[in-house]
Amino acid sequence: MSENFFKEKKEWSRYKDFILAYYLYYLHLALNSRTVQTDQQHYGRQTCVMSVLALLLFAPQNYEIYQWICARRRRFTTNEHGHNSSQGETMKYDEIGEWSEIKLDILKEYAGAYTAILSKKSWCKGYIYIDAFAGPGQHIRKTTGEFVTGSPLNALSVRPSFTEYHYIDLDGEKVEELRKIADNRAGVHVYHGDCNEKLTQDILPRLTYDTYKRALCFLDPYGLHLEWKTVKLAGSLKTVDIFLNFPIMDINRNVLFADLGKAKREDVERMNAFWGDDGWQQILYREQSGLFGGTHLVKVEGFERLALEYRKRLKTIAGFKFVPEPVLMRNAKNGPLYYLFFASPQRVAEKIISDIFKKYRKRL
Ligand SMILES: C[S@@+](CC[C@H](N)C(=O)[O-])C[C@H]1O[C@@H](n2cnc3c(N)ncnc32)[C@H](O)[C@@H]1O
Repeated sequence: MSENFFKEKKEWSRYKDFILAYYLYYLHLALNSRTVQTDQQHYGRQTCVMSVLALLLFAPQNYEIYQWICARRRRFTTNEHGHNSSQGETMKYDEIGEWSEIKLDILKEYAGAYTAILSKKSWCKGYIYIDAFAGPGQHIRKTTGEFVTGSPLNALSVRPSFTEYHYIDLDGEKVEELRKIADNRAGVHVYHGDCNEKLTQDILPRLTYDTYKRALCFLDPYGLHLEWKTVKLAGSLKTVDIFLNFPIMDINRNVLFADLGKAKREDVERMNAFWGDDGWQQILYREQSGLFGGTHLVKVEGFERLALEYRKRLKTIAGFKFVPEPVLMRNAKNGPLYYLFFASPQRVAEKIISDIFKKYRKRL
């Protein structure tokens, strides 16, 4: 039994519920016994005896049951991104919807085609998988509560195999969990930190064109956590294909207010970092005079326009030659969640992903 067994008053009061439950059970038997009086006396005595026994003999078991129930009560909590999480003894797993599984399927299918092509190129000295927002390696399916493997583990099962895997996450617990599952595999590197720094300072600079290496990079944040400098560097190398989660929900909820003055300064700054500058404000907002003087920035365009302009930026500023139309992912209530963008320096990549996108659009 734990040293802190009765430490918290709250816990003690829950523990008492179990004794009461035993007591009530035998009381019920005593009162509802349809047989002779001796039975009622017997159950009455049992009620008292069992109450004491429950306290003495079943204490450890009750406490275990109590802990189990508390763990189940804690199981569904909400993480910092507003996504439901499932919490085990040491780890929170995020609950994911069908739209996330479609995203994972798209990535898996493309990854298979990618390694199949590059493994046949004699000039190619490595084809690398980078998961910049890797997560713990598994999630919980929202509808059934079952485990679903996440993108880093899916990448490990792609055949032919990638030659290296680089996994990054900002959440230390998720990194530890991922390390337990994936770190012992050949070519796997797991990093704890901000992917924008790790990618721009360490991983991407090693993928210049003269290395004859190629990479597929999955940029899958929940919200506005990806910075434009990272995307721009990936595009400039001409060696990297990216999948990019364009987080409409975070943008709509926290930045694109009808009056931009209502947005928090830190959210506007996150948006600026995501966009690369404050140019999105000129695209979406117009200056309007207020009734009592002064001016406001009033929204005149929505997220669709923003995505259109981002696609242009991927081509003209980041330098990705091929950026097909992204897939819009919606939740069960048909609300827009994010666009899944793909960008590549290769025409053949665009052809492959366009076919995959077309197939999956039918499931959306
Ligand atoms: C959508 S989840 C990733 C899911 C994963 N791609 C999958 O499909 O299995 C986003 C992850 O990004 C992590 N994260 C958030 N900001 C980050 C940052 N700046 N750098 C690295 N990871 C970050 C979160 O901890 C979270 O695990």
